[in-house]
Amino acid sequence: MKGIYISINLVFILSNFLMKNLSTIDEILRLYLDDDDFGGTYIDVIHRMIFINTLNETRAEQIKNLPEIRLYANSLNFSKALNSTAILNSGINDMLILARRYRPVECLGYIDVKVNNIVIATCDDDRNKNEAFLNATKIYYPIYMYYNCFPEINNNIISQNNIKFENRNDIASYILAGDGLSIERFNRTTYKCSAGFWAKSRFNPINYIVTAGHCYRRGASYYLLPWNSTDENVKYYVGKMLIHYLSPIDVGLIPILGNVTPVANIRNTDSKEFPQLWIKDHIVVSSNGAHLCISGLYSHVKCGNVKALSGFASTLDREDYIEKLFVVSMSTVGGDSGGPVFSYNQDLISTSINGILLGGFDYDINGDINNAIIQVTPIDFILNYNGIEIITVT
Ligand SMILES: *[C@@H]1O[C@H](CO)[C@@H](O)[C@H](O)[C@H]1NC(C)=O
Ligand SMILES: *[C@@H]1O[C@H](CO)[C@@H](O)[C@H](O)[C@H]1NC(C)=O
Ligand SMILES: *[C@@H]1O[C@H](CO)[C@@H](O)[C@H](O)[C@H]1NC(C)=O
Ligand SMILES: *[C@@H]1O[C@H](CO)[C@@H](O)[C@H](O)[C@H]1NC(C)=O
Ligand SMILES: *[C@@H]1O[C@H](CO)[C@@H](O)[C@H](O)[C@H]1NC(C)=O
Ligand SMILES: *[C@@H]1O[C@H](CO)[C@@H](O)[C@H](O)[C@H]1NC(C)=O
Repeated sequence: MKGIYISINLVFILSNFLMKNLSTIDEILRLYLDDDDFGGTYIDVIHRMIFINTLNETRAEQIKNLPEIRLYANSLNFSKALNSTAILNSGINDMLILARRYRPVECLGYIDVKVNNIVIATCDDDRNKNEAFLNATKIYYPIYMYYNCFPEINNNIISQNNIKFENRNDIASYILAGDGLSIERFNRTTYKCSAGFWAKSRFNPINYIVTAGHCYRRGASYYLLPWNSTDENVKYYVGKMLIHYLSPIDVGLIPILGNVTPVANIRNTDSKEFPQLWIKDHIVVSSNGAHLCISGLYSHVKCGNVKALSGFASTLDREDYIEKLFVVSMSTVGGDSGGPVFSYNQDLISTSINGILLGGFDYDINGDINNAIIQVTPIDFILNYNGIEIITVT
Protein backbone atom coordinates (compact mmCIF):
# COMPACT_ATOMS: atom_id res chain seq x y z
CA MET A 1 0.00 0.00 0.00
CA LYS A 2 2.77 2.36 0.96
CA GLY A 3 4.48 1.72 -2.37
CA ILE A 4 1.33 2.70 -4.22
CA TYR A 5 1.08 5.93 -2.28
CA ILE A 6 4.66 6.79 -3.10
CA SER A 7 4.33 6.14 -6.80
CA ILE A 8 1.10 8.12 -7.02
CA ASN A 9 2.83 11.00 -5.29
CA LEU A 10 5.80 10.76 -7.58
CA VAL A 11 3.57 11.04 -10.64
CA PHE A 12 1.85 13.98 -9.00
CA ILE A 13 5.15 15.66 -8.13
CA LEU A 14 6.45 15.20 -11.68
CA SER A 15 3.31 16.45 -13.36
CA ASN A 16 3.16 19.36 -10.95
CA PHE A 17 6.78 20.24 -11.68
CA LEU A 18 6.11 19.98 -15.40
CA MET A 19 3.07 22.18 -15.11
CA LYS A 20 4.97 24.97 -13.32
CA ASN A 21 7.74 24.63 -15.85
CA LEU A 22 5.35 24.89 -18.83
CA SER A 23 3.56 27.76 -17.15
CA THR A 24 6.83 29.69 -16.81
CA ILE A 25 7.70 29.06 -20.45
CA ASP A 26 4.17 30.10 -21.43
CA GLU A 27 4.60 33.43 -19.65
CA ILE A 28 7.89 34.10 -21.41
CA LEU A 29 6.49 33.07 -24.78
CA ARG A 30 3.44 35.27 -24.49
CA LEU A 31 5.60 38.37 -24.34
CA TYR A 32 6.28 37.78 -28.04
CA LEU A 33 2.80 36.88 -29.25
CA ASP A 34 0.69 39.64 -30.74
CA ASP A 35 -3.11 39.58 -30.84
CA ASP A 36 -3.50 39.47 -34.63
CA ASP A 37 -1.10 36.67 -35.57
CA PHE A 38 -2.03 34.40 -32.65
CA GLY A 39 -5.15 33.21 -30.87
CA GLY A 40 -3.94 32.34 -27.35
CA THR A 41 -1.94 29.54 -25.74
CA TYR A 42 -2.64 26.62 -23.41
CA ILE A 43 -0.43 24.19 -21.60
CA ASP A 44 -0.95 20.45 -21.82
CA VAL A 45 0.93 18.45 -19.20
CA ILE A 46 0.05 15.07 -20.73
CA HIS A 47 1.63 15.98 -24.05
CA ARG A 48 4.29 18.08 -22.31
CA MET A 49 3.50 20.88 -24.69
CA ILE A 50 2.36 24.44 -24.97
CA PHE A 51 -0.09 24.77 -27.83
CA ILE A 52 -0.11 28.14 -29.58
CA ASN A 53 -3.06 28.99 -31.81
CA THR A 54 -1.35 30.35 -34.87
CA LEU A 55 -2.76 32.40 -37.74
CA ASN A 56 0.51 33.59 -39.23
CA GLU A 57 3.12 30.88 -39.71
CA THR A 58 5.78 33.31 -40.89
CA ARG A 59 5.53 35.11 -37.57
CA ALA A 60 5.55 31.77 -35.72
CA GLU A 61 8.84 30.78 -37.42
CA GLN A 62 10.40 34.09 -36.43
CA ILE A 63 9.38 33.63 -32.81
CA LYS A 64 10.57 30.03 -32.70
CA ASN A 65 14.01 31.21 -33.76
CA LEU A 66 14.38 33.93 -31.16
CA PRO A 67 17.26 33.03 -28.80
CA GLU A 68 14.97 33.46 -25.77
CA ILE A 69 12.48 30.97 -27.22
CA ARG A 70 14.69 28.53 -29.13
CA LEU A 71 15.60 26.82 -25.85
CA TYR A 72 12.02 25.68 -25.44
CA ALA A 73 11.32 24.74 -29.07
CA ASN A 74 10.67 21.11 -28.14
CA SER A 75 7.86 22.12 -25.83
CA LEU A 76 6.06 24.32 -28.33
CA ASN A 77 3.40 23.34 -30.82
CA PHE A 78 2.30 26.19 -33.07
CA SER A 79 -0.98 24.82 -34.39
CA LYS A 80 -3.09 26.35 -37.09
CA ALA A 81 -6.10 28.34 -35.89
CA LEU A 82 -8.78 30.60 -37.38
CA ASN A 83 -9.63 33.08 -34.65
CA SER A 84 -7.06 35.60 -33.43
CA THR A 85 -6.98 36.94 -29.88
CA ALA A 86 -8.03 40.34 -31.25
CA ILE A 87 -11.14 38.84 -32.87
CA LEU A 88 -12.04 36.79 -29.81
CA ASN A 89 -11.55 39.71 -27.43
CA SER A 90 -13.62 42.02 -29.52
CA GLY A 91 -16.32 39.34 -29.84
CA ILE A 92 -16.54 38.81 -26.09
CA ASN A 93 -16.59 42.57 -25.46
CA ASP A 94 -19.48 42.94 -27.91
CA MET A 95 -21.31 40.10 -26.17
CA LEU A 96 -20.95 41.81 -22.80
CA ILE A 97 -22.57 44.91 -24.32
CA LEU A 98 -25.37 42.70 -25.68
CA ALA A 99 -25.73 41.09 -22.25
CA ARG A 100 -26.18 44.47 -20.61
CA ARG A 101 -28.86 45.26 -23.19
CA TYR A 102 -30.79 41.94 -23.13
CA ARG A 103 -30.02 40.93 -19.51
CA PRO A 104 -29.72 37.14 -19.83
CA VAL A 105 -29.81 35.26 -16.50
CA GLU A 106 -27.40 32.59 -15.26
CA CYS A 107 -25.24 33.10 -18.25
CA LEU A 108 -21.47 32.82 -18.61
CA GLY A 109 -19.36 33.92 -21.58
CA TYR A 110 -15.68 33.08 -21.98
CA ILE A 111 -12.96 32.46 -24.54
CA ASP A 112 -12.04 28.79 -24.71
CA VAL A 113 -8.53 28.92 -26.14
CA LYS A 114 -8.39 25.19 -26.72
CA VAL A 115 -11.39 25.26 -29.06
CA ASN A 116 -10.34 28.73 -30.28
CA ASN A 117 -13.79 30.22 -29.91
CA ILE A 118 -16.15 31.99 -27.55
CA VAL A 119 -18.41 29.81 -25.41
CA ILE A 120 -21.78 30.92 -24.02
CA ALA A 121 -22.94 28.70 -21.18
CA THR A 122 -26.46 28.98 -19.85
CA CYS A 123 -29.17 26.93 -18.17
CA ASP A 124 -31.42 24.98 -20.50
CA ASP A 125 -34.38 26.19 -18.44
CA ASP A 126 -33.47 29.80 -19.19
CA ARG A 127 -33.32 29.35 -22.95
CA ASN A 128 -36.63 31.06 -23.57
CA LYS A 129 -35.94 33.82 -21.11
CA ASN A 130 -32.53 34.42 -22.68
CA GLU A 131 -33.64 34.01 -26.29
CA ALA A 132 -33.18 37.64 -27.32
CA PHE A 133 -29.59 37.61 -26.06
CA LEU A 134 -28.83 34.21 -27.58
CA ASN A 135 -30.25 35.38 -30.91
CA ALA A 136 -28.25 38.59 -30.83
CA THR A 137 -24.97 36.73 -30.25
CA LYS A 138 -25.49 34.33 -33.16
CA ILE A 139 -23.74 36.64 -35.61
CA TYR A 140 -20.47 35.73 -33.86
CA TYR A 141 -21.01 31.95 -34.21
CA PRO A 142 -19.97 31.16 -30.64
CA ILE A 143 -20.36 27.70 -29.12
CA TYR A 144 -23.53 27.42 -27.02
CA MET A 145 -23.45 25.11 -24.02
CA TYR A 146 -26.78 24.33 -22.35
CA TYR A 147 -26.79 22.88 -18.85
CA ASN A 148 -29.38 21.27 -16.66
CA CYS A 149 -29.54 23.64 -13.73
CA PHE A 150 -31.79 22.59 -10.91
CA PRO A 151 -33.45 25.13 -8.72
CA GLU A 152 -31.40 25.63 -5.57
CA ILE A 153 -33.98 23.88 -3.45
CA ASN A 154 -33.14 20.55 -5.13
CA ASN A 155 -29.48 21.23 -5.16
CA ASN A 156 -28.71 20.13 -1.64
CA ILE A 157 -27.93 23.68 -0.66
CA ILE A 158 -30.94 24.68 1.32
CA SER A 159 -32.16 22.53 4.13
CA GLN A 160 -35.23 24.14 5.62
CA ASN A 161 -35.61 21.65 8.41
CA ASN A 162 -35.62 23.05 11.88
CA ILE A 163 -32.42 22.28 13.64
CA LYS A 164 -32.37 22.05 17.38
CA PHE A 165 -30.10 24.81 18.34
CA GLU A 166 -27.21 24.44 20.67
CA ASN A 167 -24.71 27.20 20.97
CA ARG A 168 -21.17 25.97 21.36
CA ASN A 169 -19.59 29.28 22.17
CA ASP A 170 -17.85 27.72 25.12
CA ILE A 171 -15.69 25.41 23.01
CA ALA A 172 -13.03 26.77 20.66
CA SER A 173 -12.43 25.20 17.30
CA TYR A 174 -10.17 25.78 14.34
CA ILE A 175 -11.52 27.08 11.05
CA LEU A 176 -9.58 26.20 7.93
CA ALA A 177 -9.88 27.32 4.33
CA GLY A 178 -12.47 25.02 2.74
CA ASP A 179 -14.41 24.33 5.95
CA GLY A 180 -18.20 24.54 5.81
CA LEU A 181 -20.23 27.55 6.88
CA SER A 182 -23.75 27.11 8.13
CA ILE A 183 -25.76 30.28 7.61
CA GLU A 184 -28.65 30.67 10.00
CA ARG A 185 -31.49 33.06 10.52
CA PHE A 186 -33.84 32.74 13.49
CA ASN A 187 -32.08 29.53 14.53
CA ARG A 188 -32.80 27.82 11.23
CA THR A 189 -30.24 26.78 8.70
CA THR A 190 -31.04 28.55 5.51
CA TYR A 191 -27.93 28.05 3.47
CA LYS A 192 -24.50 26.49 3.35
CA CYS A 193 -21.25 27.80 1.95
CA SER A 194 -17.53 27.27 2.42
CA ALA A 195 -14.88 29.40 4.08
CA GLY A 196 -12.46 30.84 1.53
CA PHE A 197 -9.47 31.87 3.60
CA TRP A 198 -8.34 33.90 6.60
CA ALA A 199 -7.49 37.54 5.88
CA LYS A 200 -6.86 40.70 7.79
CA SER A 201 -7.59 44.32 7.05
CA ARG A 202 -4.69 46.40 5.76
CA PHE A 203 -5.89 49.27 7.93
CA ASN A 204 -7.35 47.84 11.15
CA PRO A 205 -6.58 44.90 13.39
CA ILE A 206 -9.64 43.03 12.08
CA ASN A 207 -9.51 39.37 11.09
CA TYR A 208 -11.95 38.04 8.53
CA ILE A 209 -13.12 34.84 6.97
CA VAL A 210 -13.48 35.62 3.27
CA THR A 211 -16.20 33.82 1.31
CA ALA A 212 -18.56 34.44 -1.63
CA GLY A 213 -20.79 37.53 -1.57
CA HIS A 214 -23.84 35.51 -2.59
CA CYS A 215 -23.52 33.63 0.71
CA TYR A 216 -24.94 36.75 2.36
CA ARG A 217 -28.30 36.40 4.13
CA ARG A 218 -29.78 39.40 5.87
CA GLY A 219 -29.28 39.24 9.62
CA ALA A 220 -27.83 35.74 9.45
CA SER A 221 -25.23 34.27 11.80
CA TYR A 222 -22.39 32.24 10.34
CA TYR A 223 -21.25 29.03 12.03
CA LEU A 224 -18.35 26.74 11.31
CA LEU A 225 -19.72 23.48 9.95
CA PRO A 226 -16.95 20.86 9.87
CA TRP A 227 -16.73 18.43 6.93
CA ASN A 228 -18.53 15.12 7.33
CA SER A 229 -20.45 16.49 10.26
CA THR A 230 -23.52 14.39 10.81
CA ASP A 231 -24.68 16.35 13.80
CA GLU A 232 -25.52 19.86 12.75
CA ASN A 233 -25.87 20.84 16.39
CA VAL A 234 -22.11 20.75 16.71
CA LYS A 235 -21.08 24.05 15.32
CA TYR A 236 -19.16 27.10 16.36
CA TYR A 237 -20.09 30.73 15.96
CA VAL A 238 -17.89 32.68 13.52
CA GLY A 239 -19.70 36.00 13.15
CA LYS A 240 -21.96 37.93 10.79
CA MET A 241 -21.19 39.00 7.24
CA LEU A 242 -20.36 42.67 7.60
CA ILE A 243 -19.49 43.44 3.99
CA HIS A 244 -20.68 41.76 0.83
CA TYR A 245 -20.78 42.48 -2.89
CA LEU A 246 -22.30 40.65 -5.84
CA SER A 247 -20.65 42.90 -8.40
CA PRO A 248 -18.16 43.87 -9.67
CA ILE A 249 -16.89 40.85 -7.72
CA ASP A 250 -18.74 38.25 -5.65
CA VAL A 251 -17.15 38.43 -2.21
CA GLY A 252 -18.17 38.69 1.45
CA LEU A 253 -16.23 39.34 4.66
CA ILE A 254 -17.12 37.87 8.04
CA PRO A 255 -15.22 39.52 10.92
CA ILE A 256 -14.25 36.72 13.29
CA LEU A 257 -16.07 37.37 16.55
CA GLY A 258 -16.99 33.90 17.78
CA ASN A 259 -14.89 31.29 19.44
CA VAL A 260 -13.17 29.93 16.34
CA THR A 261 -9.46 30.18 15.69
CA PRO A 262 -8.55 30.73 12.05
CA VAL A 263 -5.69 28.72 10.56
CA ALA A 264 -3.75 29.60 7.40
CA ASN A 265 -4.19 26.07 6.06
CA ILE A 266 -6.53 24.43 3.58
CA ARG A 267 -8.60 21.49 4.76
CA ASN A 268 -7.66 18.28 2.98
CA THR A 269 -8.63 15.80 5.68
CA ASP A 270 -9.57 13.00 3.26
CA SER A 271 -5.80 12.64 2.80
CA LYS A 272 -3.96 10.78 5.53
CA GLU A 273 -0.59 12.13 4.48
CA PHE A 274 -1.47 15.79 3.99
CA PRO A 275 -4.64 16.51 5.99
CA GLN A 276 -3.83 20.21 5.92
CA LEU A 277 -2.17 22.13 3.10
CA TRP A 278 -0.24 25.27 3.88
CA ILE A 279 -1.21 28.58 2.33
CA LYS A 280 2.16 29.95 1.33
CA ASP A 281 1.12 32.86 -0.89
CA HIS A 282 -1.35 33.92 -3.54
CA ILE A 283 -0.85 34.12 -7.29
CA VAL A 284 -2.86 35.25 -10.26
CA VAL A 285 -3.62 32.40 -12.62
CA SER A 286 -1.75 33.01 -15.84
CA SER A 287 -1.95 29.90 -18.04
CA ASN A 288 -4.82 28.13 -19.72
CA GLY A 289 -4.55 24.44 -18.96
CA ALA A 290 -2.98 24.97 -15.50
CA HIS A 291 -3.98 22.44 -12.85
CA LEU A 292 -6.02 23.99 -10.01
CA CYS A 293 -7.91 22.52 -7.07
CA ILE A 294 -10.73 23.48 -4.74
CA SER A 295 -11.47 22.74 -1.11
CA GLY A 296 -15.11 22.95 -0.08
CA LEU A 297 -17.78 21.56 2.23
CA TYR A 298 -19.24 19.02 -0.22
CA SER A 299 -16.58 18.46 -2.86
CA HIS A 300 -13.72 18.34 -0.36
CA VAL A 301 -10.52 18.62 -2.42
CA LYS A 302 -10.77 18.03 -6.15
CA CYS A 303 -8.94 19.41 -9.16
CA GLY A 304 -9.37 20.51 -12.77
CA ASN A 305 -7.74 22.60 -15.48
CA VAL A 306 -8.06 26.27 -16.31
CA LYS A 307 -10.32 26.72 -19.34
CA ALA A 308 -10.34 30.52 -19.58
CA LEU A 309 -8.47 33.35 -17.90
CA SER A 310 -11.34 35.81 -18.26
CA GLY A 311 -15.00 36.09 -19.11
CA PHE A 312 -18.27 37.59 -17.89
CA ALA A 313 -21.20 36.16 -15.96
CA SER A 314 -24.59 37.31 -14.75
CA THR A 315 -24.73 38.05 -11.04
CA LEU A 316 -27.05 35.90 -8.97
CA ASP A 317 -29.38 38.82 -8.24
CA ARG A 318 -29.79 39.15 -12.03
CA GLU A 319 -28.99 42.83 -11.77
CA ASP A 320 -25.52 43.05 -13.22
CA TYR A 321 -22.59 41.26 -14.87
CA ILE A 322 -19.33 40.22 -13.33
CA GLU A 323 -16.33 40.93 -15.51
CA LYS A 324 -13.58 39.58 -13.30
CA LEU A 325 -13.54 35.80 -13.27
CA PHE A 326 -11.75 32.78 -14.64
CA VAL A 327 -13.11 29.37 -15.62
CA VAL A 328 -11.92 25.89 -14.59
CA SER A 329 -13.19 22.51 -15.79
CA MET A 330 -14.61 20.92 -12.64
CA SER A 331 -17.94 20.10 -11.03
CA THR A 332 -18.86 21.35 -7.57
CA VAL A 333 -21.93 21.55 -5.34
CA GLY A 334 -23.76 24.65 -4.14
CA GLY A 335 -22.35 24.57 -0.60
CA ASP A 336 -18.80 24.71 -1.97
CA SER A 337 -19.38 28.39 -2.85
CA GLY A 338 -16.70 30.64 -1.42
CA GLY A 339 -14.20 27.78 -1.00
CA PRO A 340 -10.56 28.44 -1.97
CA VAL A 341 -9.26 27.60 -5.44
CA PHE A 342 -5.54 26.93 -5.24
CA SER A 343 -2.52 25.38 -6.89
CA TYR A 344 -0.05 22.99 -5.31
CA ASN A 345 3.60 23.86 -5.04
CA GLN A 346 6.36 21.38 -5.80
CA ASP A 347 6.41 19.95 -2.26
CA LEU A 348 2.68 18.93 -2.45
CA ILE A 349 1.96 20.41 0.95
CA SER A 350 2.28 24.13 0.35
CA THR A 351 -0.14 25.94 -1.93
CA SER A 352 -0.84 29.26 -3.56
CA ILE A 353 -4.37 30.69 -3.44
CA ASN A 354 -5.77 31.70 -6.85
CA GLY A 355 -9.31 32.72 -5.96
CA ILE A 356 -12.63 31.59 -4.45
CA LEU A 357 -15.51 29.67 -5.97
CA LEU A 358 -18.24 31.83 -7.47
CA GLY A 359 -20.50 29.25 -9.11
CA GLY A 360 -20.66 26.63 -11.78
CA PHE A 361 -22.49 24.54 -14.33
CA ASP A 362 -22.50 20.77 -13.85
CA TYR A 363 -24.49 18.44 -16.08
CA ASP A 364 -25.04 19.51 -19.67
CA ILE A 365 -28.31 18.73 -21.44
CA ASN A 366 -26.99 15.28 -22.36
CA GLY A 367 -26.40 14.53 -18.69
CA ASP A 368 -22.64 14.69 -19.23
CA ILE A 369 -20.62 15.90 -16.23
CA ASN A 370 -17.40 16.04 -18.27
CA ASN A 371 -18.34 19.49 -19.52
CA ALA A 372 -18.76 20.81 -15.97
CA ILE A 373 -17.17 24.19 -15.35
CA ILE A 374 -16.75 26.51 -12.41
CA GLN A 375 -16.36 30.28 -12.29
CA VAL A 376 -13.77 31.64 -9.91
CA THR A 377 -13.26 35.15 -8.51
CA PRO A 378 -9.56 36.01 -8.93
CA ILE A 379 -7.57 36.55 -5.74
CA ASP A 380 -5.99 39.88 -6.69
CA PHE A 381 -9.41 41.53 -7.07
CA ILE A 382 -10.64 40.09 -3.79
CA LEU A 383 -7.67 41.51 -1.90
CA ASN A 384 -7.49 44.89 -3.62
CA TYR A 385 -11.19 45.55 -3.69
CA ASN A 386 -11.51 44.99 0.06
CA GLY A 387 -8.17 46.36 1.27
CA ILE A 388 -7.31 43.04 2.90
CA GLU A 389 -4.33 40.73 2.92
CA ILE A 390 -4.32 36.99 3.04
CA ILE A 391 -2.76 35.35 6.09
CA THR A 392 -0.11 32.83 5.11
CA VAL A 393 1.95 30.30 7.05
CA THR A 394 5.21 31.81 8.18
C1 LIG B 1 11.98 23.45 -17.59
O1 LIG B 1 12.57 22.18 -17.34
C2 LIG B 1 13.70 21.89 -18.13
C3 LIG B 1 14.19 20.52 -17.74
O2 LIG B 1 13.16 19.60 -17.82
C4 LIG B 1 14.78 22.93 -17.90
O3 LIG B 1 15.84 22.68 -18.77
C5 LIG B 1 14.23 24.31 -18.18
O4 LIG B 1 15.19 25.28 -17.85
C6 LIG B 1 12.98 24.56 -17.36
N1 LIG B 1 12.46 25.84 -17.78
C7 LIG B 1 11.98 26.72 -16.95
C8 LIG B 1 11.52 28.01 -17.54
O5 LIG B 1 11.88 26.53 -15.75
C1 LIG C 1 2.75 37.58 -40.90
O1 LIG C 1 3.86 38.01 -40.14
C2 LIG C 1 4.87 38.61 -40.92
C3 LIG C 1 6.04 38.85 -39.99
O2 LIG C 1 5.67 39.65 -38.91
C4 LIG C 1 4.33 39.88 -41.53
O3 LIG C 1 5.33 40.48 -42.32
C5 LIG C 1 3.12 39.53 -42.39
O4 LIG C 1 2.53 40.72 -42.88
C6 LIG C 1 2.11 38.77 -41.58
N1 LIG C 1 1.06 38.26 -42.46
C7 LIG C 1 -0.19 38.62 -42.32
C8 LIG C 1 -1.14 37.99 -43.27
O5 LIG C 1 -0.56 39.40 -41.45
C1 LIG D 1 1.11 19.58 -32.78
O1 LIG D 1 -0.22 19.27 -32.41
C2 LIG D 1 -0.97 18.66 -33.45
C3 LIG D 1 -2.39 18.53 -32.96
O2 LIG D 1 -2.44 17.87 -31.72
C4 LIG D 1 -0.33 17.34 -33.83
O3 LIG D 1 -1.07 16.74 -34.87
C5 LIG D 1 1.10 17.58 -34.24
O4 LIG D 1 1.74 16.35 -34.48
C6 LIG D 1 1.85 18.33 -33.16
N1 LIG D 1 3.17 18.69 -33.66
C7 LIG D 1 4.26 18.51 -32.95
C8 LIG D 1 5.53 18.98 -33.58
O5 LIG D 1 4.27 18.00 -31.86
C1 LIG E 1 -34.91 34.43 -32.17
O1 LIG E 1 -34.68 33.94 -33.47
C2 LIG E 1 -35.71 33.07 -33.93
C3 LIG E 1 -35.28 32.48 -35.27
O2 LIG E 1 -34.63 33.44 -36.05
C4 LIG E 1 -37.02 33.85 -34.02
O3 LIG E 1 -38.05 33.00 -34.47
C5 LIG E 1 -37.34 34.40 -32.64
O4 LIG E 1 -38.51 35.21 -32.72
C6 LIG E 1 -36.20 35.22 -32.09
N1 LIG E 1 -36.53 35.54 -30.72
C7 LIG E 1 -36.33 36.74 -30.16
C8 LIG E 1 -36.76 36.90 -28.73
O5 LIG E 1 -35.81 37.67 -30.74
C1 LIG F 1 -14.04 31.46 -34.70
O1 LIG F 1 -13.87 30.62 -35.82
C2 LIG F 1 -15.03 29.88 -36.20
C3 LIG F 1 -14.60 29.00 -37.36
O2 LIG F 1 -14.09 29.79 -38.38
C4 LIG F 1 -16.13 30.84 -36.58
O3 LIG F 1 -17.30 30.09 -36.91
C5 LIG F 1 -16.43 31.74 -35.39
O4 LIG F 1 -17.35 32.71 -35.78
C6 LIG F 1 -15.17 32.44 -34.92
N1 LIG F 1 -15.46 33.13 -33.66
C7 LIG F 1 -15.47 34.46 -33.57
C8 LIG F 1 -15.78 35.02 -32.21
O5 LIG F 1 -15.25 35.20 -34.50
C1 LIG G 1 -15.59 12.13 4.97
O1 LIG G 1 -16.35 11.86 3.81
C2 LIG G 1 -15.58 11.44 2.70
C3 LIG G 1 -16.51 11.23 1.54
O2 LIG G 1 -17.41 12.27 1.43
C4 LIG G 1 -14.84 10.17 3.05
O3 LIG G 1 -14.03 9.80 1.95
C5 LIG G 1 -13.98 10.40 4.26
O4 LIG G 1 -13.36 9.20 4.64
C6 LIG G 1 -14.82 10.92 5.41
N1 LIG G 1 -13.93 11.23 6.51
C7 LIG G 1 -14.18 10.89 7.74
C8 LIG G 1 -13.17 11.29 8.77
O5 LIG G 1 -15.17 10.27 8.05
